[in-house]
Amino acid sequence: MGFLYRQILRKILFTFDPETVHDAVIKSARTLQSIGPAQLIIELMARATEIPVTVAGIRFRNPVGLAAGFDKNCEAPHILARLGFGFLELGTLTLRAQNGNPRPRVFRLGEHQGIINRMGFNNVGAYEAARRLERLGPAGVPLGLNIGKNADCSLEDAPKNYVEALKVLYPFGDYFTLNISSPNTLQLRALHQKERLARLLDPVMDFVSGQAAKKPVFVKISPELEDAELKDLVSSAVERGLGLIVANTTVRRGHLPARWHSYEGGLSGRPLRGIANEMLEKVSALAAGRAPLIGAGGIFDGPSAAEKLRLGADLVQVYSGLIYEGPFLVRAILKYLEKTGFNAQNRAKNKFR
Ligand SMILES: Cc1cc2nc3c(=O)[nH]c(=O)nc-3n(C[C@H](O)[C@H](O)[C@H](O)COP(=O)(O)O)c2cc1C
Repeated sequence: MGFLYRQILRKILFTFDPETVHDAVIKSARTLQSIGPAQLIIELMARATEIPVTVAGIRFRNPVGLAAGFDKNCEAPHILARLGFGFLELGTLTLRAQNGNPRPRVFRLGEHQGIINRMGFNNVGAYEAARRLERLGPAGVPLGLNIGKNADCSLEDAPKNYVEALKVLYPFGDYFTLNISSPNTLQLRALHQKERLARLLDPVMDFVSGQAAKKPVFVKISPELEDAELKDLVSSAVERGLGLIVANTTVRRGHLPARWHSYEGGLSGRPLRGIANEMLEKVSALAAGRAPLIGAGGIFDGPSAAEKLRLGADLVQVYSGLIYEGPFLVRAILKYLEKTGFNAQNRAKNKFR
């Protein structure tokens, strides 16, 4: 199936602008979503292996999730779940709707199997997303809702902006991600800094602890952190019982040919893998099992997913791999994990490390 995608469909899709293709894919997924038998057919084709894991108190049917940014506006969770994902992270959503940066803002680096995007949190906003999620009902897999800051909101007002969005979205997510690491919102990454982060995390956790259902919160981090910053950040997360997603896209270009250096935005896919894995290994050592970890960045097959689980991720997420390998990537990863003995028991006994 992956072979057919790479040989035929990908060649056709790659002749069009990346965002135009993406919009068409989401539109088709929405149409399929409204056709009951289509969901069943996709589920049968995907034939996902069950590898149950429990992380942050949530039971996942398998550890492979969809990364944020693919379904920013909560349009097609039902059909995406049928592809075999163990969970979906939707968004990034901001409190108020915003347009993001001017197009073109997504670029394929075909020969490197990477993507550069500078979308800038284009999204319908938390209120509309909440309405959609309410109308659609449960997707059958846990949903993470990824929250970012509105571009016109100052760093000082950011905590309020995040908490308001969290309040609106809280009934509809199983976990929440605070995105402080997109390189495409001015100064967003300054929120990694210890005091600023505390000013964001404290009101978020105050809100969560006041709720009858206490849902897990993750912080999605940049792969560009210095060791000292990383140490503070992991301590902040562990102290407050938060999880971490490692990592968002990179602004580094040094490892790519010069023609790509002038493209602004976040780089993902294969050229991110080594950078994200290095960061994951450090975070895993610092957290020492005291914080749930989700690994993302450059997963294109079973071995690259297994590598992140071995480095300490409890769950993994994919995005660019879907663009280059096609929608049945999830199934291929799960088959590989099953074959190589990944399961919750082996994991707990450190036999899958
Ligand atoms: C086109 C595009 C849009 C993205 N949008 C978001 C986003 O809105 N929020 C977010 O947290 N991450 C976003 N990401 C980052 C991914 O969630 C993921 O962290 C990153 O791409 C690394 O994984 P990958 O190498 O499998 O793509 C986006 C990535 C791409 C390629």
